[in-house]
Formats: sequence, structure tokens, C-alpha cells
Amino acid sequence: IVDVQNQIDHELITHDEIVKKIEEVAAQASEDYKNTVPLVICVLKGAANTMTCFAQAMSINVELDYMSLSSYGAGTSSSGTITVRQDLSCDVRGRDVLIVEDIIDSGRTLRWLVDELNKRGAKSVEIFALLEKPARRVVDVDVKYKGFEIPDEFVVGFGLDYDEKYRNLDSIAVLKPQVYEGAEQ
Ligand code: PRP
Ligand code: MN
Ligand code: MG
Repeated sequence: IVDVQNQIDHELITHDEIVKKIEEVAAQASEDYKNTVPLVICVLKGAANTMTCFAQAMSINVELDYMSLSSYGAGTSSSGTITVRQDLSCDVRGRDVLIVEDIIDSGRTLRWLVDELNKRGAKSVEIFALLEKPARRVVDVDVKYKGFEIPDEFVVGFGLDYDEKYRNLDSIAVLKPQVYEGAEQ
């Protein structure tokens, strides 16, 4: 298989549905944070697309920062250990922080990040997760802004990868089984 579109089994959420949902959440968050300048933190790499769309749809002043975290290797299941690939560039002390994440799966990445930001002295910490897989949740995390609940299928696109690829798809999709063949599940 060479062409990316040929590797997609089916589309789960269209580009228009994603954008519409992010705009709704951005409108609500703009209202909720109108009396402050929130620090919006993008969890790289997966949340890059969601962050861009979300930040552009917000109607209040915000500051943006980025942290690169990894819990998945090349396979399709979480390793359980969070690695900081790149830290924030600013101090979160006293800030109202809004984390933007592409997906909450086991919950370990966001649990770790919320605890870390609280340790660093953030005034408040809330989460926007575009996707949520309730079937896979292992640890408890309170997600204030929710996008879509999805079934327990490995999804790619709109920032989400399989082995670092498919992040550039503009929708959320499930790959054909043969793409994973020979790879560790
Ligand atoms: C993925 C995804 C979330 C996290 C969710 O990131 O983007 O950040 O895993 O899984 P969890 O709830 O089980 O922790 P990944 O580690 O693949 O890094 P990436 O964003 O660079 O792809
Ligand atoms: Mn991620
Ligand atoms: Mg990944």
C-alpha cells in the first residue's frame, strides 16, 4: 500500500465534525475564562492539530505553551511510563491552565500532567480532550471539556499517529488491519 487514503479502513469522525466540536468547546471555554488570561498547554505531538484549531476559535486573550510527552512507543498500547521529551517554556505558578489533549485513553498521561502542573503551583488546571475511550480508562482524571467518545479501536489522524505516521490526516480514521500486520499490537 502506498497511498495514505488506501490505508484507511473507515473514517470515524469527519474534518467538519471535528472543527464544529472544537469551535463549540472554544466558545464555552472563552466564556468560562473571560475574567483571566488562561495558559493553554498543548500536549505534543498528538494535540498539535487540536491546539491550533482550538486556539484560533477562542475569542479571548490566551497564552500558548507546549509540552512534549510520550507514553506510547511504536505499538498500539500505552507503556504506562511518561517521558518528557520537551518541557514547557514558561512558569505555570499562579496561572489558570487549560490542557489541550487529543485523546484520553488509559488516562496516565493526563493524570501525570495534572499532578505535575499542580506541583508547580498552577492556580487551576482543567482539560480539553478531543477524544475519549472510556473502555480503556485505568486511572481517574476529571475532563471538563469533552469532544467525542469513541469505541475501543486504534484511531489515527488529526494529530494522532500510528508509529509516528498518519498525524497529517485531516479526519479521525481507523486503519486497515493489514497496516498493523507484523507489528506488535
Ligand atoms: C498518546 C496521545 C495521548 C496519550 C493518551 O500520546 O496523544 O497523549 O497517548 O494515552 P493515555 O491516556 O493512555 O496516557 P503518545 O504517547 O502516543 O505521544 P504523541 O502524542 O507524541 O503521539
Ligand atoms: Mn500524546
Ligand atoms: Mg502517539
